[in-house]
Amino acid sequence: MDLKEKYNQLEDFNKKAELGGGIERIKKQHAAGKKTARERILQLLDHGTFTEIDKLVTHRNYDFGMEKNKILGDGLIAGYGKIGERLVYVFAQDFTVFGGSLSRANADKIVKIQNLALKMGAPVIGLNDSGGARIQEGVESLAGYADIFYNNVMSSGVVPQVSAILGPCAGGAVYSPALTDFIFMVNEKSHMFVTGPEVIKTVTHEDVTKEELGGALTHNAKSGVAHFNGTDEEQTLMMIRELLSFLPSNNLEEPPVKTTLDPSDRTEESLQDLIPADPNKPYDMNELIQKIIDNNHFLEVQAQYAQNIIVGFARFGGKPVGIVANQPAHLAGVLDINSSAKAARFVRFCDAFNIPLLTLVDVPGFLPGTSQEFGGIIKHGAKLLYAFSEATVPKITIITRKAYGGAYDVMSSKHIGADVNFAYPTSEIAVMGPEGAINIIHRNKFNEEEKTKAVQEYRDKFANPYKAASLGYIDEIINPKDTRKKIIGALDMTKNKRKSNPPKKHGNIPL
Ligand code: HXC
Repeated sequence: MDLKEKYNQLEDFNKKAELGGGIERIKKQHAAGKKTARERILQLLDHGTFTEIDKLVTHRNYDFGMEKNKILGDGLIAGYGKIGERLVYVFAQDFTVFGGSLSRANADKIVKIQNLALKMGAPVIGLNDSGGARIQEGVESLAGYADIFYNNVMSSGVVPQVSAILGPCAGGAVYSPALTDFIFMVNEKSHMFVTGPEVIKTVTHEDVTKEELGGALTHNAKSGVAHFNGTDEEQTLMMIRELLSFLPSNNLEEPPVKTTLDPSDRTEESLQDLIPADPNKPYDMNELIQKIIDNNHFLEVQAQYAQNIIVGFARFGGKPVGIVANQPAHLAGVLDINSSAKAARFVRFCDAFNIPLLTLVDVPGFLPGTSQEFGGIIKHGAKLLYAFSEATVPKITIITRKAYGGAYDVMSSKHIGADVNFAYPTSEIAVMGPEGAINIIHRNKFNEEEKTKAVQEYRDKFANPYKAASLGYIDEIINPKDTRKKIIGALDMTKNKRKSNPPKKHGNIPL
């Protein structure tokens, strides 16, 4: 071969690899309303930053005639590039090649990406669109999955891991995304399940469509498996970029600060009237959040799941903060199984990646009932208690109204390590609400008139923040209009916080 032929050969290999499963399959992918793996990566990353690795890898399978059917890249595009000018590693399963199924060779490519990301301290983003284990490869494919799972676990809490489900994702293949920090899905285009509709029909005789079983809405609103859903691929990939803008590249870095024109000392008069005088009237905690954060920009996580608690990312004075807030407009903001688990996971993520926590409290307590007790509210509620207690990032708490019972302790109280605890004058901090308390301590002893009087007495005495403030459990009672500047002041005061938990192999969170 002369020099020219050698260069032509390289060009030829590159072109072949870039065609994946071929024009016809690419057309089919587009006709299904899906982009190709390569198009997705280019859309996700900053323009012109993608560097591909292992482009010429092929499978090493000699069964079922596979030796005659080798495609460069073997159904997986892998490499690195930038998002917001910061390094990220990315892999995308190429559905046009053996349905994006996972071979030993393409598992090795993912493992290589994971190892590089761990060494260099950068996030890993997986774009999933696959028929699962490469059937022709049997246990080698299963081994490939297990290697990926293992690396997911080793990377957990070291670099952010993000999964987008952009097509089918079935069988054990769902467990790599499940081990990552955030799962994104696309409405009506992506599906996740351990066993599909046909198997379910045979085993349990249930009739269920794949959309009902494992569509984006199911996992965002019902199961809580996913964290975000987009209306299409473009929007979903944009949301990944937005999420990463709040996160540090690894657990040894601070989250990225963005310059903001929103004044740190901005007061918000309208907040003075947000909380109704009647404690039984709801209000929208989202409104409060919007009014205090930089430029009204809030990235809510799991917005459709367990809506009695709100979790998400915002910035204060340009610095990323994780917000956990009871939502009185949904189930009165009560803590139940799902909201406890949702918030606990979010708190642990923020703690792992040095993101300070702001907790906004308006909680009537834990939800009573047999379904909650039988479902294990004791251990699920304990998850949130555990997560807040072990978190060593700066923790700022504001009680806006109710903080009753165990839920007062759980919601980042002073006692479990919050650094700054504020309360509004509208706060009610006590063991339980006045009516419930009087019913228990004066049961059968009081007539209606005496009960009303006792309820009022209890309310005057306990349904306020002053008892807690007199004990130092609340550092300062603040006016709602000053919330933003108080938070920014507290973040500034806590910015050099040094705190570590006792050395241990790992704790034992109640799972
Ligand atoms: C090899 C596969 C494949 C697989 C699909 N293909 N899945 N090849 N291994 N797992 C191939 C098909 O043969 C086909 O090739 C091409 O990909 C496109 O697939 P279609 O079926 O034509 O596409 P579509 O109709 O869109 O259906 C997609 C699908 C379906 C729903 C994903 O292909 C499917 O059900 N596949 C099998 C899913 C599965 O059971 N996987 C194993 C799960 S167990 P041609 O050449 O005809 O175009 C598992 C264990 C993991 O994953 C355990 C980890 C612990």
